[in-house]
Amino acid sequence: MSSAFENTIFEDPTLNVIHLLNSIAQENPGAISLASGRPDDQQCDPALIDRGLAQYKQHVAGTEQSLATLLCQYGKTSGIINGILATHLRVDEQIDVSNPENIVVCMGFQEACTLTLLSIFEGGGVLLVPDPVFSGITGIAKLLGIKIIPVPMATFLDPLALRNVVEALEARGEKTKALYVIPDFSNPTADSLSYHGRRAMLALASEKDFFILEDTAYRYFRYEGDAIASMKSIDSSRVFLLGSFAKSIFPGLRMGYVVAPEGAEVSFSSRLCKAKSLITVNTPALCQAVAAGLLIENDYSLKGLNQTRALSYIKKRNHMLECLEREFPPKVGTQGTISWNHPAGGFFINMQLPFAFRYCDMRECAKQFKVIVFPTCLFSLTDEATHQVRLSFSNATASDVTQAIRRFRAYVESRLRPKA
Ligand SMILES: Cc1ncc(COP(=O)(O)O)c(C=O)c1O
Repeated sequence: MSSAFENTIFEDPTLNVIHLLNSIAQENPGAISLASGRPDDQQCDPALIDRGLAQYKQHVAGTEQSLATLLCQYGKTSGIINGILATHLRVDEQIDVSNPENIVVCMGFQEACTLTLLSIFEGGGVLLVPDPVFSGITGIAKLLGIKIIPVPMATFLDPLALRNVVEALEARGEKTKALYVIPDFSNPTADSLSYHGRRAMLALASEKDFFILEDTAYRYFRYEGDAIASMKSIDSSRVFLLGSFAKSIFPGLRMGYVVAPEGAEVSFSSRLCKAKSLITVNTPALCQAVAAGLLIENDYSLKGLNQTRALSYIKKRNHMLECLEREFPPKVGTQGTISWNHPAGGFFINMQLPFAFRYCDMRECAKQFKVIVFPTCLFSLTDEATHQVRLSFSNATASDVTQAIRRFRAYVESRLRPKA
């Protein structure tokens, strides 16, 4: 093979995370996995497809539109369910999308963020991301040749510290063009941004003239406390809202959307559509129909659709916390070296270990102790989070979690035992 195909961006570890996860699971079929951020298999019900489609058909029958054209022809690039999504955003988020054509229906968050980055980054500039962070954003930004500045999570969540980062970049002649944030229950650390933090970030974006990419994938999985207003609802002009139905309906649907900033000088929705028309042409109409039908069935509320799911995830979170408390009781002398957060929402518990836990350790743990857990540092572009592990409670049964945490304790003990 020619050397032109060696040492390319395709060798970058960020682009390999999903592959690594899959291959470890395949190599260790007997291992219990707490590594993937999949929603609960129990929520992935094929009956949702029939229900959603039937409801959408009924909806169309009450209009002048032709179901055959809507479902079977090439569709409008921006989507066929924009009005329904706009209603959902008004009902759940008090977001008033003045023109539903500012919504572009996409094949999941992944396409939504790809189109958004393409529409913003022509001509350079930097993208700020928290570190560690979901590789869906950093992987595609790397593939598109966008310069990424990782900001340690604690700095990212602190308005003054974040301002200092933007200003230091400015002083170096680097233009911040956008910032990516998961304000509710981030992946991998389950951190959230306070209301004050959201307002401060929006004010900074206005002052320094950059855009915010707001990822709401876990927003409807809140287990305690009151919801905090979405950033898009506070200031639409600075925010690309990136929606995903992967967790809130099911991932096989590959459904998501972008809501472009309203009131911006540039028509971002038309840029998004131009890029989309050359990448996926339009989002499959059948998938749009299912999502729209399910929204209509739930009075346009995705929050409503997910209420019972959230109750079942609370039980899962609580069970994992109980297992951690049982298997890792505080020990005199080692107190504080092993700890974990108590997430108010989302799919993950992030655990702090007294030793580094990297990809090679993940493999060893899977092979010897039959439990697969995710090194948080695989989602870091720096050396952040080397001592952390992400434990996913979303798609394991209670008995699997009990076993898995017991096995992980055995692994941790083996690492702490003095070597002979
Ligand atoms: C932070 C975050 N955003 C978005 C998604 C969903 O992406 P998609 O809609 O492409 O499946 C995930 C899935 O793991 C995620 O963790």
